[in-house]
Amino acid sequence: MKHLTLKIILLVTLMIPMETCTTSNLINIESSAMNIIPKPQSVKPLQGTFVIKSDQSLSLEGDFVHPEFIKASLNALLPGAFSSNAGGADVQLRIHPDQSIPSESYRLEINAKHILLTAGDEPGIFYGLQTLRQLLPATVENQTAELHNNAIPAVLVVDSPRFGWRGMHLDVSRHFFPLEFVKQYIDMLALHKMNVFHWHLTDDNGWRLEIKKYPKLTEICAWRVDREHEDWRKWSPIEPGEKATYGGFYTQDEVREVIAYAAERQITVIPEIEMPGHSSELFAAYPELSCQGKVIPVNPGSYWPNEDILCAGNDSVFTFLENVLDEVAELFPAQYIHIGGDEAAKKYWETCPKCQQRIQTEGLENEHELQSWFIQKIEKHILAKGKRLIGWDEILEGGLAQSATVMSWRGEKGGIAAAKAGHDVVMTPYTYVYFDYYQGNPETEPQAIGGDLPVTKVYSYEPIPEELEPEEHKFVLGAQANLWTEFVKTTDHAEYMVLPRMTALSEVVWSDPEGREWSEFRARLTELFPRYEILDWNYRPLDEE
Ligand code: ACM
Ligand code: ZN
Repeated sequence: MKHLTLKIILLVTLMIPMETCTTSNLINIESSAMNIIPKPQSVKPLQGTFVIKSDQSLSLEGDFVHPEFIKASLNALLPGAFSSNAGGADVQLRIHPDQSIPSESYRLEINAKHILLTAGDEPGIFYGLQTLRQLLPATVENQTAELHNNAIPAVLVVDSPRFGWRGMHLDVSRHFFPLEFVKQYIDMLALHKMNVFHWHLTDDNGWRLEIKKYPKLTEICAWRVDREHEDWRKWSPIEPGEKATYGGFYTQDEVREVIAYAAERQITVIPEIEMPGHSSELFAAYPELSCQGKVIPVNPGSYWPNEDILCAGNDSVFTFLENVLDEVAELFPAQYIHIGGDEAAKKYWETCPKCQQRIQTEGLENEHELQSWFIQKIEKHILAKGKRLIGWDEILEGGLAQSATVMSWRGEKGGIAAAKAGHDVVMTPYTYVYFDYYQGNPETEPQAIGGDLPVTKVYSYEPIPEELEPEEHKFVLGAQANLWTEFVKTTDHAEYMVLPRMTALSEVVWSDPEGREWSEFRARLTELFPRYEILDWNYRPLDEE
């Protein structure tokens, strides 16, 4: 109803400036302002139009961290924009260090004379620019638009995100994705005002991060035999004499490049280093770190249950992990380090003399408490580095580390329990946001891991579980979707799994849940597709309705 009213107002106001707009092409606000995704808090049409000139003057005021990038971003939208400190510039970007303006919020006013974008911080300015981007025709995406003499109908957008954690994960272990794609993924997040990139850098099928102290991690643990022609679940292990040729890794310089690229786009990069399970790739080069002590060549697919595990009774395991984490902490400026913690089978811990000894000396009840002890030991180290620990919801088992944040993936239960215990949580339940699941009929979709997760279901997600009391809501930092890549071998396929489900998620985590309605969103979403096409981002088309 709200939108219908807004539509009528927009149509009426469109008629007025038409008369004064004979020399300009009016960019149709009905198919622009109304189509901003994620939907802003408020969009109010104003009188008149802003006519784009071939050389806008621009002023930047306030404390910009990346002024050159911001100018370049604006320039990509309005070619000809140049720097000017004079008051009264055509386009004015202002950061007001005002405590009363919520972080990441912005106010974008387009009137007959100016484009005025104000915010309390640079993220707010960046998000305002993403909104301006969506107010302009899709052709701005490859800068082919000849926009001068076009008129943007005057409008006031006041906007602020609902959640501070708007995340997307990418598994680069099961399949390796090149640096250029990682940057493109970040671009995809940026257009949708997502702000966390969770980089799943290590898992059973390959270690992907250069660690100076342990060069074998990237010489050996990053490589597996190529079984790309086989079904992931029917892997055949390396044969004697065979070479491990599939894989790759990111150098620390490349990681710094990604972090800087993401930072300009207001995205925090959170590294994940899996422990104590999902770590069998380590045993290709460092077998002494496992309970079994056997060399296990990096797996070219999955075997289940995966019982290989880091030995919790061996002190040198902690020396190794702490050395790795020291380099990770140095490299990544993010507050958080993700330590995995999921699906750690306890079979070998049950029989390993060193693990059993640890249980005894630490006075632990069982292997679940041993996992908790393991995570708490790592937590201490992470805290000493000035960082915070986040892990999958299994870290609740056997007792949650005091300062840990929980990523709730096995449904919402873990998130609810953690929030009720006063821990921060990020909701990422597989039922709503596992983008490795099918998004349509498996017979006509590319092979996926299973499940059934159409974009409509993602759009229906509510990150605050009903079970939480109002005073517990603050512990839900937000939500994120995960792209596991067992069945995702190519960048094209990765894009297809993410778009448009991430588009739906962006609105879930940014916009007001009131009045969220699929058919209204669907119409806006359709208008975003030409942009994806110009950007050459592969997306799954919507089903007929
Ligand atoms: C997970 O999906 N194992 C976190
Ligand atoms: Zn052990």
